[in-house]
Amino acid sequence: MEHDTIMLPSLREKEAELPTIDDDLLEKLKLLMLQSQPFQEMMMMYNCAIREVRTKAEVLNDEMSVRYHRNPISSISSRVKKPESITQKLYKKGLPFTVEAIMANLADVAGVRIICEFVDDIYSIAAMLAMQDDLKLIKIKDYIKYPKPNGYRSYHMIVEIPVFFSKGKTPMRVEIQIRTIAMDFWASLDHELKYKKDIDREDEELIAQELLSCADRIAETDMIMQQIRMKLDSVEEKKTQSEIVMEE
Ligand code: GTP
Ligand code: MG
Repeated sequence: MEHDTIMLPSLREKEAELPTIDDDLLEKLKLLMLQSQPFQEMMMMYNCAIREVRTKAEVLNDEMSVRYHRNPISSISSRVKKPESITQKLYKKGLPFTVEAIMANLADVAGVRIICEFVDDIYSIAAMLAMQDDLKLIKIKDYIKYPKPNGYRSYHMIVEIPVFFSKGKTPMRVEIQIRTIAMDFWASLDHELKYKKDIDREDEELIAQELLSCADRIAETDMIMQQIRMKLDSVEEKKTQSEIVMEE
């Protein structure tokens, strides 16, 4: 794929569009939130929702490893959004600093990242999760079929999952990102670039171009690895079938 004609959006320009928040004020708001009991409870609830989603992914992985003798999921990581990021996001969206506003408007307070070996595994895991009747699918963003202009690839799902607390059942939103090992490697380097403040504009644009070309090469490699996987599977299948015939 040729990308020479594509204008990369400058990260600095993107930042400039955002309203700035006074650091002191942000710090005060963060501390206020941290000290409040409802906020602490909310964070606990998001942690529990994460555990539910992680268990679902682990169960699918265990089942497939027994059935197909391989693990489609290579690792799972998770995080609850940092209080300062929550405060910043509320501010940018012009929302009040309340637990209600967070629960109703922020879909990525709880995040689970599932790293798969192969691209097909991503879609299998996503479909198997979406099929589960206690899990409500809120939104899908397929950045694998439709990569971001910078080359970012990943499959995103926002789901709602019921968590049972003493007061009853609470539906909780969780952002699930599913990507290959290679896509994840790329995203971590891209993430570093986004947070480098002391990099000059020329270097930044050069690195962005290089990252974009890496993203395409990674996608091609993922595709070839997938094809090799399929060939190996078909060899295995033929072997099993011939063994069955010999036994008969
Ligand atoms: P946010 O407000 O940032 O959550 O964006 P959004 O609501 O438009 O959601 P989107 O699905 O685009 O992004 C959600 C998350 O995906 C981000 O918080 C990142 O973790 C990840 N992500 C999205 N785009 C990129 C990217 O270009 N590079 C990297 N490294 N991560 C990305
Ligand atoms: Mg986010």
